[in-house]
Amino acid sequence: MWHAAWLPPEAFRALGSRRTVVHGDGALVDTVRSEVDRAVAASGSGGGPTYDLVLALDTAEPLPAEAAAVRAEAGELGPEGFALARREGVTVVLAGGPAGLLYGLFHVVRLGESAFGADRPIETHRPWAARRMVDHWDNVDVHPVMGQVERGYAGGSIFWADGAFRGDRDRIRAYGRLLAACGINAIAANNVNVHATEARLLTDRLGDVKAIADTLRPYGIRVHLSVTFAAPAVLGGLPTADPLDEGVRSWWAAATRRVYETIPDFGGYLVKADSEGQPGPFAYGRSHADGANLLADALAPYGGVVHWRAFVYNHRQDWRDRSTDRARAAYDHFAPLDGLFRDNAILQVKHGPMDFQPREPVSPVIAAMPATRLAVELQATQEYTGQQLHACYLAPMWSEVLAFEPVEGRFAELVAVSNVGDDPFWTGHPLAQANLYAFGRLAWDPDADPLSILDEWIDLTFPEPPEPLRQALHAIMDGSWRTYERYTSPLGVGFMVRPGSHYGPDVDGYEYTPWGTYHFADRDGVGVDRTRATGTGFTGQYPAPWSDVYESLDRCPDELLLFFHHVPYGHVLHSGSTVIQHIYDTHFAGAEQAAEMRARWAEAAGLVPADVYDRVRERLDEQVRSAQEWRDQVNAYFFRKSGVPDAEGRRIY
Ligand code: GCU
Repeated sequence: MWHAAWLPPEAFRALGSRRTVVHGDGALVDTVRSEVDRAVAASGSGGGPTYDLVLALDTAEPLPAEAAAVRAEAGELGPEGFALARREGVTVVLAGGPAGLLYGLFHVVRLGESAFGADRPIETHRPWAARRMVDHWDNVDVHPVMGQVERGYAGGSIFWADGAFRGDRDRIRAYGRLLAACGINAIAANNVNVHATEARLLTDRLGDVKAIADTLRPYGIRVHLSVTFAAPAVLGGLPTADPLDEGVRSWWAAATRRVYETIPDFGGYLVKADSEGQPGPFAYGRSHADGANLLADALAPYGGVVHWRAFVYNHRQDWRDRSTDRARAAYDHFAPLDGLFRDNAILQVKHGPMDFQPREPVSPVIAAMPATRLAVELQATQEYTGQQLHACYLAPMWSEVLAFEPVEGRFAELVAVSNVGDDPFWTGHPLAQANLYAFGRLAWDPDADPLSILDEWIDLTFPEPPEPLRQALHAIMDGSWRTYERYTSPLGVGFMVRPGSHYGPDVDGYEYTPWGTYHFADRDGVGVDRTRATGTGFTGQYPAPWSDVYESLDRCPDELLLFFHHVPYGHVLHSGSTVIQHIYDTHFAGAEQAAEMRARWAEAAGLVPADVYDRVRERLDEQVRSAQEWRDQVNAYFFRKSGVPDAEGRRIY
């Protein structure tokens, strides 16, 4: 079996002990009814003679008087929105559409007893974006290097094992329920790197996709598919995949028609093209707008969308070539194409210009394409943030990204790379569940406060948490991203990880490779000069005032200093410390904080189930070990390069 995550039976206690009536029809309303029945059955109470909770679609006829009164005040709710109010002992959830009723139900679950206490004034909830999506990097076959799930840290795939569909519909359904309960309504079911077997999900393996779609549909989740741009050639036997070729266009039209005949509510395609070896339009001298529009046109008759990734850069760079800057690549490729994409083509942009490092500036692409629909891609799977062996609550980082002034209002939706696998705890590290939950809540409302989301997650996952447990969880999780940042690569420079696995320190691991991820440390200093004056000019991709803030050594925020500037070790930060002393201080502090996190978890003993306790404990042991290794390697490296001793005389190897 698997862990209940944020939907343990206790979370339904308040609902289950009430008498509830559900008004409305349809598949999602049936899901709501079954959720209510399940909660009532579990509580064993069967409720009282009069009802305490009305869950109603606003189109239901007849609408009970309480719900009609809410309707009079609620305003436009939209297909996924709902209103909630409590008056004269009755709680009413009124939804604009069936999915809204489902989200309203899970809101009642979140509120627990407080949904049924004193009167509550009307509150309305509508998702900020119509699509809230997680991308699975799951492979059908076990890939010789990447395994069953690329960058997966939670076991195998819940969908596939060793080339076959697992058919574990109970697990997929349980997953859909968890997603719906945090507001997620779309998944891409397979890896963006589409290998030979995975390519066939579009054609003769479409049955697998249909089975997943059928299982997730009752929870309002639509399935999308990663496809290879070369599909007309590799699957259709055509001599070309040129996006402007008529034969290619007809092939995509026909393939897409078959998909919709099989899965009428299919979401659309996700494409990684001309990136890290994946095929794309460049091979035919065509632009990425040509490529994306080809698929957008095939999907348009059915209301589908294509998510086209902006993660395009030269991964075969010569490290000796100082003029090429990977950070520039997405903007250089895509900003000139603004306005050329179809309405149902969504450009999916990683949140930073590099690759999901613990600290990067926000991608300048997001501010540069006002005439293009953009999705910001986040990484819930902790590839560069501890691989779900380290506790690292990412929502504070995501919130910072989303609140960055030049990107506010410039993106249409959020997407996260999933951190889920067939591990009993879903995410390997039980505390990593919070990252998936928080992603869903932020995709629903990007302005939501990450620590309030954490409280929500704590309340659901550990029902009625005793105060010491809540405090221990906050002590461990609130600042865990910054702690991780402290003991890994300093001041935004990134990529001091072991090549390939991306786990653990290797300061020069990527320094002389073709990947474009360098720190340029020498005996005098460290960092990447990305200024217009003397460097790669990347700072010029930002709008004012940020182009000048980042350009200026004086104004550049400390935490991004080495992303934008190459400076001597003695350079004094705004904090008053030198760069070299900052490196020492943060690495000693970060490793110490990891040890404190482990000590705080001891307070949770006996307050959480033993299996959760043990799993977290075991992972914190590894986090402490790994943080010390990071500390010692990074400090030793910079001490040996610079020859500058630690002002505090602490041990450096
Ligand atoms: C990272 C990751 C790859 C992944 C790529 C992507 O580079 O290491 O495994 O394929 O991102 O986002 O496409």
